[in-house]
Parts: sequence; C-alpha cells; structure tokens
Amino acid sequence: MARPKNDNFLRALLREPTDYTPLWLMRQAGRYLPEYCETRRRAGSFLDLCKSPSLACEVTLQPLTRYDLDAAILFSDILTVPDAMGLGLYFAEGEGPKFERPLREEWAIRDLTAPDPWDHLRYVMDAVAEIRRALANSVPLIGFSGSPFTLACYMVEGGSSDDFRRVKTMLYDRPDLLHRILAVNAKAVTGYLNAQIECGAQAVQIFDTWGGALSHAAYEEFSLAYMKQVIDGLTKTHDGERIPCIVFTKGGGQWIEKIAASGCDAVGLDWTTDLGAARRRVDGKVALQGNMDPLTLFASPEAVAKEATRILDSYGAADGGNTGHVFNLGHGINQHTPPDNVTVLVDTVHTYRKK
Ligand code: CP3
Repeated sequence: MARPKNDNFLRALLREPTDYTPLWLMRQAGRYLPEYCETRRRAGSFLDLCKSPSLACEVTLQPLTRYDLDAAILFSDILTVPDAMGLGLYFAEGEGPKFERPLREEWAIRDLTAPDPWDHLRYVMDAVAEIRRALANSVPLIGFSGSPFTLACYMVEGGSSDDFRRVKTMLYDRPDLLHRILAVNAKAVTGYLNAQIECGAQAVQIFDTWGGALSHAAYEEFSLAYMKQVIDGLTKTHDGERIPCIVFTKGGGQWIEKIAASGCDAVGLDWTTDLGAARRRVDGKVALQGNMDPLTLFASPEAVAKEATRILDSYGAADGGNTGHVFNLGHGINQHTPPDNVTVLVDTVHTYRKK
C-alpha cells in the first residue's frame, strides 16, 4: 500500500523532508464545529456517536472538509478501553465522563483483565476501517489510546478529578495495586493500538494527559515505564510502511529526553515548553509535535497568525529546516473556539515557508 497523497505528516514524524510544516489539531472533531453538534444530536449522545462506525466516520471527516488539515484522527474516546473492561462508562450531562464501577477494591483489581479489541472494541475497529475507505488515501489516519496511567486515573477516580486524590493515595499506600492496574492497562493499550493499526491506522498517539500530575520520581515508574512497554509491543510496520508513534505527556516538558528515549518517533509538547529549546534537547533523535496554547484561538486573526509564526520561528522552520516538526495545539481545542480562526491558523502554518 502506497503512502497517502499528502504524506507530509508521516514524513515529518519520520524526520524526512516535507513540503511545508504539516498540522492537525487535538480534538479537531468536536463541539466547536456546528456540524459536529448536529451529528451528535442525531446520534443521541456522545457515546452513541462513538459506538456508531458510520457516524464516527462522518465526524472524523468534518474538520477535513472545512480545513486543509494534514491528518485525520479517529473519532472515539480514550475511555472506551476501561468501558470494554467492564467499568460501565457513561457521560452525565455537563459533568464529563463517569464510571458505574470504579476500581477501588483489591478483588476487582485482581480480577481486571485486558479486553479483546476484536470483540469488545469491534465498533472502534469498524470505524477505523470505514474512515480509511472514506479517506481514499488523501491524508493519513491517526489511531490513539490513553496512556496506561491516564486511563488508571479515570478508572480509580471514577471520572475526572481536580486532585487525583484516590489514585495518588493508592500510588503511595499500595503501589503494588496501582502497578497491577498499569500492567493490565499496558497490555490492553498494546492490543488496542495494534488492532487499530491492523485496520488501517497509519500513525498512533498515546495521550498521557495526566502524567504531568506526577512527581518527578513517580513519572518514570508509573507512567513512562508503562508507555515504554506499550511502544515495545507495537506493530512497527504495516503494509510495508512504518507506523510512527507519538507520545504526548501534558506537562511533560521537563522529561523530554526521557520520553524521547522511550522508543517513540515523536514527542508531543504542551505550550509551556519552548519548541526551539526542546528541539536542541532531543537533538534530532525524534520529531516534535505542538505546541500552540489552544486559547490563542480566541484572539484576533492577526494575533493567531502572529503566535503561529512565533512558534514556527522558534522551531527554526524557515529555510526548509522544519524536518521533524508537526504543528499542533498544546492540548485539545476548546469547545468555544471560533471556527474561522482555525482557517487562519492552517493558512499561516502552510504558507510560512513560502514567505
Ligand atoms: O482529537 C480528536 O478529534 C479525536 C477525538 C477524541 C475525543 N476524546 C473526543 C471527545 C480524543 C483523541 C479524545 C481523547 C480523550 N478523552 C482524552 C485525552 C486527550 C485530552 O483531551 O486530554 C481524555 C482525557 C478523554 C476523556 C474525556 N472525554 C473527557 C474528560 C471528556 C469530557 C471533556 C469535555 O470536553 O466535555 C470527554 C468527552 C469527549 N471526547 C468529547 C469529545 C469530542 C466531548 C463530548 C461531547 O460531544 O459532549
């Protein structure tokens, strides 16, 4: 199978020369788009939308119809994996994700097993295959999963949390129990990502949204070590093409060298890190992805263009030196973002090198 017609994203991840700096946006399909809200209404709920391969395919393509983005990302959620483990995911209106059966008891932790992705997560695999057919080799499709630790945060807390009290209490009091959850999660995530690759995902991203909430000492032991296990077990080539892997630890700026040594192809950065300094720190060993503050998109079009240009300058993207950079936001796009500012962002990034 040949690479997609626009393979700038894959080339940047593999540190090959590109025509321009490619970009995609975390949460590019979401509530800031009126067409997304329309499809979600038709689906009935967010989970019904995730569980319908044809509707998931429809919303995956919506941002690509509107904007000249260089990659599609599977529309789903990281919490489908613990849902498939039997925790009972639901979304209470305006409250975010919740689990009916959070992991608190020792017996439940001992009983936890990795789900078979071809059985309990079949709807995700069907969506991946359907999206690949619909993309018709125009741009690459990104598959994704939560990191073992980020999934554990939701599984133990039972939903979102502002202090991670339960999971951190477990980490300090009963590290053996947390390690047991993380080992199962690593196995689950590996199988889940490999099934997505089998169905056509051309790159994968591990979302370690909460790794940055850990202490310096705990990050390596409880988050990075398990992402490393996942990366070690990933299918490296499919249909004759390399499948690059991106690790995004939000708040992970101080661990860039360690993340870069995990075996990943690219490190995702939030906006608190200077991209040029990060580039010097990884010294060509991996590509970088990021890192505009998503809230920049609330400012004027001129301010959006200025900030995007500053980020490209800081990487050193002029003079064809942009090899190894994928432009992105430093976290998911905010649901109140004015959609027209995304057009300004895409144009600024794509025309930068031509100036
Ligand atoms: O990037 C994409 O466009 C792909 C889709 C995607 C979603 N969630 C859709 C979604 C991806 C990659 C995710 C990942 C995800 N989900 C993460 C990691 C990335 C991050 O943002 O840190 C996390 C922590 C979750 C868990 C989750 N899902 C939360 C905390 C919430 C509620 C937050 C909110 O914005 O309300 C969700 C719901 C969710 N996932 C929505 C979308 C579009 C909004 C649901 C809706 O339509 O009501």
